[in-house]
Amino acid sequence: MNNKDHKSLLSIDIAGIKLNNPVLTASGTCGYGLDMAGLIDLNKLGGICTKGLSARPMRGNAPWRIVETHGGMLNAIGLQNIGARAFVDEKLPELRRYDTRIIPNVFGYTVDEYIDAINILEEGEGIHGYELNISCPNVKAGGESFANDARQAAAVTSAVKRLQAVPSSSNSRRMSAMWRQSPAR
Ligand SMILES: Cc1cc2nc3c(=O)[nH]c(=O)nc-3n(C[C@H](O)[C@H](O)[C@H](O)COP(=O)(O)O)c2cc1C
Repeated sequence: MNNKDHKSLLSIDIAGIKLNNPVLTASGTCGYGLDMAGLIDLNKLGGICTKGLSARPMRGNAPWRIVETHGGMLNAIGLQNIGARAFVDEKLPELRRYDTRIIPNVFGYTVDEYIDAINILEEGEGIHGYELNISCPNVKAGGESFANDARQAAAVTSAVKRLQAVPSSSNSRRMSAMWRQSPAR
């Protein structure tokens, strides 16, 4: 069996995103993907879920952010990230050279903040879909996490999906959104 056959055997479709295989980086554990380029061939990954991105950069928590415990490890990164604009300008041009799907992980504290981040990301070329981190507290709904209230989870997901109706000069691709609840901040 040649490489091409393997590729089609392993390929999958998630939320309309066609992946060469079902192996993706876990968001936040491999930075923006490029951080891993010296260790693995990024072309072999089905997709890269980035570290969580917000509309504006965030400094995150002071150290210690990761501690080993008897039963595993605890992390409290504080959602530190370079912001959507820097991702588009500094990371995306290099990332899109790889034969893999680019799936930014996005978060916000209000629905509008998710939208702001995605609108900035949409100015870049080469993004295949979004992963919504909905474990953030929704500050406009009493601070409860989006994920803990089905209506809030639906509100943010459908607001993101509606963006595909917005005309955009940079692309006309379908807006795919996956979402996940994560205990990590
Ligand atoms: C150091 C670290 C940083 C993480 N950062 C993010 C993040 O930015 N966004 C997110 O949605 N999840 C983040 N996660 C959660 C991982 O993606 C998650 O633990 C992984 O997908 C495993 O899934 P599980 O926790 O459901 O088993 C982070 C996890 C770790 C350990």
